[in-house]
Amino acid sequence: MMPLITLLSLLVLGAQAGHGVEWTYSEGMLDEAHWPLEYPKCGGRRQSPIDLQMKKVQYNPSLRALNLTGYGLWHGEFPVTNNGHTVQISLPSTMSMTTSDGTQYLAKQMHFHWGGASSEISGSEHTVDGMRYVIEIHVVHYNSKYNSYEEAQKEPDGLAVLAALVEVKDYTENAYYSKFISHLEDIRYAGQSTVLRGLDIEDMLPGDLRYYYSYLGSLTTPPCTENVHWFVVADTVKLSKTQVEKLENSLLNHQNKTIQNDYRRTQPLNHRVVEANFMSRPHQGIQLPNMRKPRLCISFSQHQPPEMQVHESCSM
Ligand SMILES: *[C@@H]1O[C@H](CO)[C@@H](O)[C@H](O)[C@H]1NC(C)=O
Ligand SMILES: *[C@@H]1O[C@H](CO)[C@@H](O)[C@H](O)[C@H]1NC(C)=O
Repeated sequence: MMPLITLLSLLVLGAQAGHGVEWTYSEGMLDEAHWPLEYPKCGGRRQSPIDLQMKKVQYNPSLRALNLTGYGLWHGEFPVTNNGHTVQISLPSTMSMTTSDGTQYLAKQMHFHWGGASSEISGSEHTVDGMRYVIEIHVVHYNSKYNSYEEAQKEPDGLAVLAALVEVKDYTENAYYSKFISHLEDIRYAGQSTVLRGLDIEDMLPGDLRYYYSYLGSLTTPPCTENVHWFVVADTVKLSKTQVEKLENSLLNHQNKTIQNDYRRTQPLNHRVVEANFMSRPHQGIQLPNMRKPRLCISFSQHQPPEMQVHESCSM
């Protein structure tokens, strides 16, 4: 329980601002430990992110590959905004994801969570066996049975997030991120926007989208609504150290402080089951060949170097 005096000053502060206090991760009155005061759902029992523990994950080979449509190069406009918490790319609803159970979701926006503050270099939200990755990418979708994101976000089966984790690959610039990262300087201040033309979102995601974890959770920021079907891809995106540092140091929040460590701590699983359609992490320790299409599946035979191993039964 929070002391009454703190609660009172929070209310006073809120009244002064004329609306709710701006939430933060670690500073001020409404840091993540206090989100439930203003946003009760943040104290719920199916919150995100979580630690994905391989020994507790339930293997479900019947989970089919996610069907992503319209994620490839699109020459239209992508508004990009610094909202004071992260950088967000608005996505066209011509991008859609159909999940294994046949539910179709339409894309809404894509944003990032990162670390960067001096003592902590990593900033993913989901961790894998306790390990935090350097950045996490979220592509937010809404169920196509609803007319809009605004309508879907209130419904129990409204949202799905495709999440991907980023690893540093020292000196290799990921060219699929060059345009996006070079325009971060245009949106240094909170509230600023720019427009990027022609992005290939598929190329900004991991090369192999076949394998993923799946569980039921929530938004990882207030209001923490518990209506998100999560799909965390097992393969990772690789960015250079320079690219990661650019993301970590380019943007300022509403107080003109650099946005860093904009990730929420992992939440209790509370008897939920995490499923995965793979048994051991398919890409652990293996550098994927720098190829995009067709998507390769890599086997684990000890007898050949990894780049020679092309799995026969890729489609299962
Ligand atoms: C993928 O989804 C699209 C759009 O919903 C559909 O037209 C296509 O047939 C699907 N592809 C597969 C392989 O299921
Ligand atoms: C942040 O910096 C900009 C540019 O110097 C300035 O216009 C703005 O008032 C500052 N905002 C705050 C909250 O200090």
